[in-house]
Amino acid sequence: MGRGVVPVWVAWSLQYWLALEERAAATEYVVGDSRGWTASPNITVGYYDEWAANKTFMGGDTLKFVWNGTHNVAFVTKEEYDNCTKVISVFQGGVAFSYTLPADANGPYYFISTVDSDCENGQKLAINVISLTPAESPYSSASSITAGALSVLVLVSSGIMAVFMN
Ligand SMILES: *[C@@H]1O[C@H](CO)[C@@H](O)[C@H](O)[C@H]1NC(C)=O
Ligand SMILES: *[C@@H]1O[C@H](CO)[C@@H](O)[C@H](O)[C@H]1NC(C)=O
Ligand SMILES: *[C@@H]1O[C@H](CO)[C@@H](O)[C@H](O)[C@H]1NC(C)=O
Ligand SMILES: *[C@@H]1O[C@H](CO)[C@@H](O)[C@H](O)[C@H]1NC(C)=O
Repeated sequence: MGRGVVPVWVAWSLQYWLALEERAAATEYVVGDSRGWTASPNITVGYYDEWAANKTFMGGDTLKFVWNGTHNVAFVTKEEYDNCTKVISVFQGGVAFSYTLPADANGPYYFISTVDSDCENGQKLAINVISLTPAESPYSSASSITAGALSVLVLVSSGIMAVFMN
């Protein structure tokens, strides 16, 4: 075996491990799933509370807002969320907007549409975000072990292939 080959395997397997790790850490959520980001009568008021209820949002996750018709996305405070305040700082018009939660995001995040009566008609989202920065969760260390085992497998099978090829 050429000595120069080994670092290539190591680098490749490390890259693979990092890619797996990254995928385990960040999730992209399409807000409202197939309903998208909309207002009544397409949804009932409270729809986005139900949508968010059983999800764990973490720093680094992405919220993808997708809509038809005239809506927008504004990042608001709790009071603005409660009052459906028509704030000026709207993320975007258009038909879609992706927001990646900061890696150290922690606590509640609020989003509304400021168009017409959208917000009153249920187009408002409140989520609670857990930061990834604190000590390793049991979930992420379990995935590290899986990824680690996979890289070992990759290394072993590359080694076997190299032996056959020599
Ligand atoms: C937007 O409209 C298209 C065409 O009617 C439809 O296929 C799509 O599911 C709609 N998307 C949303 C988010 O409503
Ligand atoms: C959330 O989980 C609870 C308990 O497992 C369940 O009763 C409820 O229907 C779930 N809600 C949604 C929107 O999936
Ligand atoms: C309801 O959904 C349809 C189809 O996606 C869309 O054209 C319409 O603008 C939506 N209405 C509201 C109020 O969002
Ligand atoms: C929200 O509404 C309450 C009562 O109507 C009002 O006192 C408060 O100033 C409003 N807050 C914002 C941020 O609009």
